Amino acid sequence: MSRKVTKAIFPVAGLGTRFLPATKSIPKEIMTLVDRPLIQYAIDEARAAGIKEFIFVTSRGKGALEDYFDHAHELEASLREKGKKDLLDTLRATNMESGAIAYIRQHKALGLGHAVWCARRLLADEPFAVILTDDVILGEPPCLQQMIEAHEETGGSMVATMEVAADKASSYGVLDVAEDMGAIVRARGMVEKPAPGTAPSNLAVIGRYILAPTVMQNLNKLRAGSGGEIQLTDAIADEITEGRDVFGLRFRGQRFDCGSKIGFLQATVAFGLERDELKGEFSDYLSNLMSVRRAAE
Ligand code: G1P
Repeated sequence: MSRKVTKAIFPVAGLGTRFLPATKSIPKEIMTLVDRPLIQYAIDEARAAGIKEFIFVTSRGKGALEDYFDHAHELEASLREKGKKDLLDTLRATNMESGAIAYIRQHKALGLGHAVWCARRLLADEPFAVILTDDVILGEPPCLQQMIEAHEETGGSMVATMEVAADKASSYGVLDVAEDMGAIVRARGMVEKPAPGTAPSNLAVIGRYILAPTVMQNLNKLRAGSGGEIQLTDAIADEITEGRDVFGLRFRGQRFDCGSKIGFLQATVAFGLERDELKGEFSDYLSNLMSVRRAAE
């Protein structure tokens, strides 16, 4: 049995330029899907998977993200006074235990691998999770929990994976598959953003990882890869070269790329339709909208 995974790294240093002008003053991780910031979805998924320590790798301009995790004492007191129990519960559910969150600064945007490496001193010789908050996943059980359960069986390192269209593979890390066991595949290699037409498979890496401590050691090389950046994918691929196991899990669930406008819009619709208090009115609105548009075509 491998050691329990209790720490997760959240690389949140990106500038979010695809969402300018919004990201001029708010970190993209605070952008709201229905009524919760993206980061809350990531935290909830990590908690459901048993994560106890949350390490944010941040950069300049991310103050609002740090503030988001402060307890809102005045607001809580006022809701309590007014007897607004539901709102109070919603608010309290976001409270984090003191000392459970650490913030580390990435001083230079040198890539995802570098961001993860910045957290090295907060980890002992233990497996750890990495969650990319842009990838929002609707799934039950939540994706990271599915991975923790699978990892308990396999050990080694594990990435979340899903099939993508051939012409999209060059936007992802892609698995070279040694053995396909159904939900789990064993990798013989991993390539970050392969040139069009050269992807070793159609299985893309999605932003959930459970990594062996040796991946952090591989990152010590600080070797530049695709796009001149230090890539996490390369440090995971090194595991395979050195004879250690790397698996991909075809998770059950729907992934949204909330780092893109279209992905964010799709996620807004999907998560809106999941909410009991919204779905009736919202789906009526969407069907009417579509029929009016179709009639006008
Ligand atoms: C990152 C990773 C890539 C992965 C992707 C998933 O790329 O480097 O391997 O497939 O996330 O979203 P990015 O989207 O940050 O360019």
